[in-house]
Amino acid sequence: MDKIIVQGGHPLKGEVDIGGAKNAALPVLVASILCDGENTYTNVPNLQDVKSIAILLTSLGAEIDAQDGLMRIDASRIKNHEAPYDLVRKMRASILVLGPLLARLGKARVSLPGGCAIGARPINLHLKGLARLGASIELKHGYVEASARRLKGNDIYLDTPTVTGTENLMMAAVLAQGTTVISNVAREPEIVALAEVLNKMGAKIEGQGTSILKIEGVKSLNPVSVEIIPDRIETGTFMVAAALTGGDVTLRNCRADHLKALIHNVGLTGATIAAGLNRIGVVGGKEIASVDVKTLPYPGFPTDMQAQFMVLMSVAKGLSIISETIFENRFIHVSELKRMGADITVSGQASMIQGVPKLSAAPVMATDLRASASLILAGLVAEGETQVNRVYHLDRGYESMEKKFVRLGAVIKRVRA
Ligand code: EPZ
Repeated sequence: MDKIIVQGGHPLKGEVDIGGAKNAALPVLVASILCDGENTYTNVPNLQDVKSIAILLTSLGAEIDAQDGLMRIDASRIKNHEAPYDLVRKMRASILVLGPLLARLGKARVSLPGGCAIGARPINLHLKGLARLGASIELKHGYVEASARRLKGNDIYLDTPTVTGTENLMMAAVLAQGTTVISNVAREPEIVALAEVLNKMGAKIEGQGTSILKIEGVKSLNPVSVEIIPDRIETGTFMVAAALTGGDVTLRNCRADHLKALIHNVGLTGATIAAGLNRIGVVGGKEIASVDVKTLPYPGFPTDMQAQFMVLMSVAKGLSIISETIFENRFIHVSELKRMGADITVSGQASMIQGVPKLSAAPVMATDLRASASLILAGLVAEGETQVNRVYHLDRGYESMEKKFVRLGAVIKRVRA
């Protein structure tokens, strides 16, 4: 099992490229199930989660060829409608095959994802929505068993704007008979990207990026060639790293328009941010001001940036409050940051952070993807050498993070434990 060793105290300087977005790539690659023929995807990030979805699609019968950010998927010969426990337990986003399998094959048997470190994360809204489209749904032996001769368009209201729930229902409704209107949907850039790919395949979707989606079902879809959008969370992670270390960093191949809430709040901490067409410049301030944030569905402050922003607040001047409204258990990183000398008090869904002059290096344990990124960031400013264990969490969502930091002048390396 790998670990990462970080030597603190080196301001980041230089330019770095941002990769394709994990949370855009997963649903877009799964959408290949919806048509015959070969789809081509570029800017596909080289991540563990992408490998997991490719293994799942191959087990369903898809033919996949992948190399250096280019992936070709041909789902013409898909026959198998089962996503087994062993694959789904590794990556809960595997649930995204449920809607497309149902739409394409009229049946699906998908293992229930179960809970995860950051929360219970039920899929009741996915199932409720599919039932509204006429699917019969049963939960048996830990699996969702769904069937429908042909899904029928209907009105659906989502109690909460779930991201993968919106994606699952959108992919189910594009081949349904008639019109589907889904209200209170997620508005994330990854949702817009998926809708645009589906429309390029021949679907009829309107309203992506707003809270209401209208989907006119079609008989069939065609294969396409598309590029995966840049990863706004990887971009945000490097922006915070630059502000944290008092650095001067330019991020390339990224989208500032996907990061308004973060750009606003990192700017309030005193960093200077220059947002261009596909690049963002961040110059850290002499001092870091404390800023209160509350995580919210897009376009609010992203929950996937909460842990990283907390590190910035842990060395800021004064007291800040971070409220987590999306997941009920997403402060696990706090105890590890406290091991590094941070002064943080958690009360329910809020954490109070009293900034300290300096963090001190320590061996720490990663518990989930974004928590692991926050521990690496803490190591960049801590006094001494920090050892981050269980970095397999990091590899799920960041491509060669330590190599990118080395290019920016950090003293960081990966070692096999
Ligand atoms: C997506 O997860 C992302 N994952 C997550 O990123 C991200 O944190 C999350 O959206 C919120 O932005 C992918 O896109 C693969 P939700 P998802 O359904 O879709 C509740 C990362 O670090 N809910 O929008 O699983 C749920 O419990 C990951 O890259 C229900 O109650 O999140 C949560 O409290 C972590 N019933 C809230 O909604 C449902 O049926 C939002 O969850 C579905 C969700």
